[in-house]
Amino acid sequence: MEIFLDTADVDYVAFYKSFIDGVTMNPSLVAKSGRDDYEGLIKEICQQISGHVSIEVISNGYDDMLVEAKQLAKIYNNVCIKLPCTFDGLRACRKLSSDGIPTNLTLCFSSTQALLAAKCGATYVSPFVGRLDDIGHDGVALLEEIVNIFATHEYETRVLAASIRNLQHLIQAALIGVNAVTLSPQILQQCFDHPLTIKGLEIFKKDWENKQ
Ligand code: G3P
Repeated sequence: MEIFLDTADVDYVAFYKSFIDGVTMNPSLVAKSGRDDYEGLIKEICQQISGHVSIEVISNGYDDMLVEAKQLAKIYNNVCIKLPCTFDGLRACRKLSSDGIPTNLTLCFSSTQALLAAKCGATYVSPFVGRLDDIGHDGVALLEEIVNIFATHEYETRVLAASIRNLQHLIQAALIGVNAVTLSPQILQQCFDHPLTIKGLEIFKKDWENKQ
């Protein structure tokens, strides 16, 4: 299972580099980074990691999406183009896939959108678990449905669980067998932390210092 870091912060990428396979970002995360040299930011992140770095297009229409996607793909060889699960986003996905450009279909909230992403040759499809939970739906159930559909039909598109808000989401996604997850730096940090590890270390240290 690939682990991506969901951030546009270069420092977080450097800090967690040993534990991640790539990076995903979106326009909100880029805005939060405070960086205005977008291309420079993308390059700095891509250089740090060999796996895919998903960069989202801002354009809406098919033609504009393709122009933007091609510009983004030229920035670095591990750029993966993030497109929305819309009519135009899916059409653009089909074109980019046939040109050999990796894609990540984002803002996926249904199995039918995921199915179309697979049919259009997407490299990844990203169902948003937390945002579905936010509106009273079951984000984890959607992941399970998509993983089953893809397995049944042997689609190669990888299921990338996004909008992971807590460790339970992460564990359930892993149990279901998603191919990838993207985690905020805060959630990734929580994966390391356990109070019994800290307590155990303190006990070992104390016992060592008090030994004869
Ligand atoms: O990058 C997409 C996704 O992970 C965003 O998560 O918490 O803003 O719903 P969230």
